[in-house]
Amino acid sequence: MASEKILVGVAWPYVNGEKHIGQIAGAYLPPDIFARYQRLIGNDVLMVSGSDTHGTPIMLKADADGIPYGEFIDKYHGLFVAGCLAMGLTFDLYTHTDTANHWEVTQQMFTRHWETGFVYKDVQRQWYDPVARKFLADRYVEGECPYCGYADARGDQCDNCGRIYDALELKHPRSKISGTTTLEIRETEHFFLDMAKMNEPLLAWIAQGKEHWRPSVLNFTRGQLELRELRGRAITRDLDWGITIPIGDYPDKRIYVWYDAVIGYLSAAIEWATVSGDPEAWRQWWDADVNPAARIYNFIGKDNIPFHTIIWPGMLIGYNAGATHLNLPYDVPANEYLNLGGGKFSTSRGNVIGWNWGLARFQPDAWRYVLTALAPETADVEFTWQDFMDRINNELVANWGNLVNRMLSFAYKRFAGAIPVPGELTAEDASFLAEIRSGFAGVGELYAAVKLKAALLEARRLSQRVNQYLNDQAPWKIIGEQPARAATVVYVALQAIDWLKVIWSPVLPHSSEQVHSYLGYDRPLFGRQYTEEVADARGTHLVLRYDHSSAGGRWEAAALPAGQAMREPAALFAKLDEAIMAEKLGA
Ligand code: MF3
Ligand code: ZN
Repeated sequence: MASEKILVGVAWPYVNGEKHIGQIAGAYLPPDIFARYQRLIGNDVLMVSGSDTHGTPIMLKADADGIPYGEFIDKYHGLFVAGCLAMGLTFDLYTHTDTANHWEVTQQMFTRHWETGFVYKDVQRQWYDPVARKFLADRYVEGECPYCGYADARGDQCDNCGRIYDALELKHPRSKISGTTTLEIRETEHFFLDMAKMNEPLLAWIAQGKEHWRPSVLNFTRGQLELRELRGRAITRDLDWGITIPIGDYPDKRIYVWYDAVIGYLSAAIEWATVSGDPEAWRQWWDADVNPAARIYNFIGKDNIPFHTIIWPGMLIGYNAGATHLNLPYDVPANEYLNLGGGKFSTSRGNVIGWNWGLARFQPDAWRYVLTALAPETADVEFTWQDFMDRINNELVANWGNLVNRMLSFAYKRFAGAIPVPGELTAEDASFLAEIRSGFAGVGELYAAVKLKAALLEARRLSQRVNQYLNDQAPWKIIGEQPARAATVVYVALQAIDWLKVIWSPVLPHSSEQVHSYLGYDRPLFGRQYTEEVADARGTHLVLRYDHSSAGGRWEAAALPAGQAMREPAALFAKLDEAIMAEKLGA
């Protein structure tokens, strides 16, 4: 099978604080599982994202903390990178948006949109705070949602219904700077993205080959487009933090954060190519004239849907009216929300669980397991600590961890630290192995379709099948009387575990790597993550990278080498109990 180019574009998180596990379950873990699977089947994956450093959410928080913007973004960018390292999120490049490269790519696109007539200049009426003497961009104004009536709707989007609108449509607006509710409407000059021009092309695009999209994403997008109400949207702001405007002389205005952030999927691929020493390599994923078959996936939370299925594809259509043709997204697997529920272990830490905080307390694969088992793929899901503990103990440990421990320790002790040499397989052995082998096709199809929760359930069913086989064959009972048969049974079970470790590995990379090593393999399943500082005209920035060249994992039922020397196994997962939970949560 020829290797396909898969771009995994991950939503760019605002660096305005520690991310919480709901955000990780929604937008950051799923793309890593998907990317790892795609690499295992031999596809050429480019997984990119970065910290979204612009916009009023960041300015508001940095101002509140009294920290200069540059320092503020470095701090939370570093925190996110640390989380990615601890959890094993294998970005080929994780960068941020305050880089010379991102400025340049954004300004080029802006200029192209200006040339193709997709960007125009106009005068806009905007909320003006007469106390602070400032125009109130985006989240500097709050009010009541014009669509659903939600009381704390933000200037650019409603958190309750997800709709985007013009801030002037807000009812009962108030300033986040001075707090005043007596706002004026004043005129200010801005650049606009001519989205009216995009409505019909987007409808044509959405009508073709979108059967693989999640129904919620497709229906929302189609519904919005069929209203035929797309109109010009201002893509500049009266702010002093953000990318400067490449046309005319507007020192006090900046490009709107959402215009530049979505361009990150492209600019990060370009930065990746540059730092990898092959500056044109990004075209393999992006340039439709070079490779129209490349598939671009955008992993996001549901509040980001309109930006990824309407605005960004619309921007690409506007860009493509010029010379270069860029590929449009192939799929936008958006998730619903994972909310924190109350219950037994609920702590008084507020209503979120910090990601870095959680990673310091529980194993990364424990998080990866639970957040995938709970994946909010089709509906909002509630997280509780009781459920977390139960799933680790009753599912991860009972179903997979104990199986591996028990079998690997038994083999290591009773067969002199090597994989036993099997005799002839019985019909039952063979059909059992065939069933496990079928997981490569069955579970693979689910990973490929981004049905990660279903993939986990299927992997769990197959692991349970190994437990059942061992209970039936009971090698520990027959090893005295029938050592040859016991060797065969142990070999068959280890072979099944060897395959299942691959099948589990996109979800559980750390523990699969351990199993792989215990079984005696030298070359790891996955590559290596590392960070480096990149210097450019705007200074230096930290990037997270992934070196795939050392990875040996393959999505295939390879034969476990009989006689291969094992490594002494240790338990994969820590079992949890109420005392441990109380201690970890500080309850
Ligand atoms: N920063 C936005 C958020 O956290 C997401 C930006 S995604 C991108 O909601 F496509 F714009 F980059
Ligand atoms: Zn609303």
